[in-house]
Amino acid sequence: MRIRFLHTEAFRLSAIYAGVFALSVLVLGAIVLVITDRAFRDQMLQFSSADIATIQAGYDGEGLDEAREVVEQSLAAPGTSDYFLLQQGKTRLAGNLPVMTPQTGPVSLPGSSPSHEVLGVGAFLAPGLYAFAGSDLYRVHKAQAHIVQTMAWLFAAALLLAILGGALVSRSFLRRSDAMARACRAIMDGDLKARIPVRGTQDELDRLAGTINEMLDRIATLMENLRQITNDIAHDLRTPVSHLRQGLERARTDAVETHSAALDAAISKTDEILALFAALLRIAQIEGGARRAAFTALNLAPVLEHMREMFGAVAEGAGHHLTSAARDAPAIRGDRALIIQMLSNLIENAILHTPEGTTITLALSQDQDRAAVTVSDDGPGVPREEHGKLFQRLYRREASRTNPGYGLGLSTAQAIAELHGADIGVVPGAAGFAIRVLFPAARKS
Ligand SMILES: Nc1ncnc2c1ncn2[C@@H]1O[C@H](COP(=O)(O)OP(=O)(O)O)[C@@H](O)[C@H]1O
Ligand SMILES: [Mg+2]
Repeated sequence: MRIRFLHTEAFRLSAIYAGVFALSVLVLGAIVLVITDRAFRDQMLQFSSADIATIQAGYDGEGLDEAREVVEQSLAAPGTSDYFLLQQGKTRLAGNLPVMTPQTGPVSLPGSSPSHEVLGVGAFLAPGLYAFAGSDLYRVHKAQAHIVQTMAWLFAAALLLAILGGALVSRSFLRRSDAMARACRAIMDGDLKARIPVRGTQDELDRLAGTINEMLDRIATLMENLRQITNDIAHDLRTPVSHLRQGLERARTDAVETHSAALDAAISKTDEILALFAALLRIAQIEGGARRAAFTALNLAPVLEHMREMFGAVAEGAGHHLTSAARDAPAIRGDRALIIQMLSNLIENAILHTPEGTTITLALSQDQDRAAVTVSDDGPGVPREEHGKLFQRLYRREASRTNPGYGLGLSTAQAIAELHGADIGVVPGAAGFAIRVLFPAARKS
């Protein structure tokens, strides 16, 4: 069986940390060993010097016999591992070491085995009278073995903990990445509503899951839009196309002289269908969000001025009056051509769906930190309960059916607003009809 957690990044990281930790335990152990070894040896040499001083004091005070006495008493002390030698010329006077070549200062003698090295101090009490006091290093070696053992346990425990920790961390990581994979697979299998579970801990995996979920939401919205458009095309092209067909059929049975008129009607019907097609596809394209790449920093005041120039004459020609009032407003980020398209739709509506003599007003102002554009008129307006429906694709009020249009002007405007992150809506309680678009201000960089 392949153990999966061994192959995760989390486990790899914990293994590296465990390695670094183990290495530092080793280095620390070595340092402790060197330091304690030196300290132990220093201490033993101090003890030995003290012993030599005692023997010397005995000799200085009461002569050779006292020095011998001191050595023998020291040897008789219970549980000691000390070594002594009192030697005159080539004769041992007292002690438990064989006669040796006198050496003064710190002396190290080989013991019975490597761990039984004898460390001590040698000195001449008087010319020709040599004394040595030392002790077995095996205690030092035993203490050091203890330290090494403790370090080894520590080392093993740390390694075990690191492996356990690594396995635990990787397992939870794996569990969550598996959940992501499961959600993705469910979506691939057609469950478009499946989402990656979010724990609410705001950690990196949570944020990743959140972002993927947002992406999935976006994709779902796009697919829903696409479905909607396909539906709209299927349903709403049927009427004009069947009218076209009826017209053509009727023309076939009619006298040949009327064919030209029938063909004209058919052509204009076809144009209408093509225009409807183009409008629907345009909405789909805007909702797809592809045009956001063309966004630039934009001041709305000149755009409004441009709209007034563009529509002033048309409005007057239709017996309307068009005015504009621009106050200070923050710059936005957007696609100028699309914003012009949106405002054109709103102004065209105000011209088409209101009686002669109506005044149309374009206004720009600041609403908190947003730029507010309002297109209003003092015409008959729309009853409150219908406001929600106006933005539905292909929705037209009964009263406006005789006016030109396909009921796509406001849905296009809404798609453009959404592309800009702007809120669009009918202003409630306006005298006449007013639509306001609130654009977020461009972020200053
Ligand atoms: N300024 C207005 N005054 C009155 N009614 C309006 C106004 N603007 C829009 N409407 C209503 O909203 C409906 C939807 O508008 P729109 O989506 O532009 O479609 P269209 O203009 O093609 O009918 C219109 O059919 C009309 O009934
Ligand atoms: Mg319209």
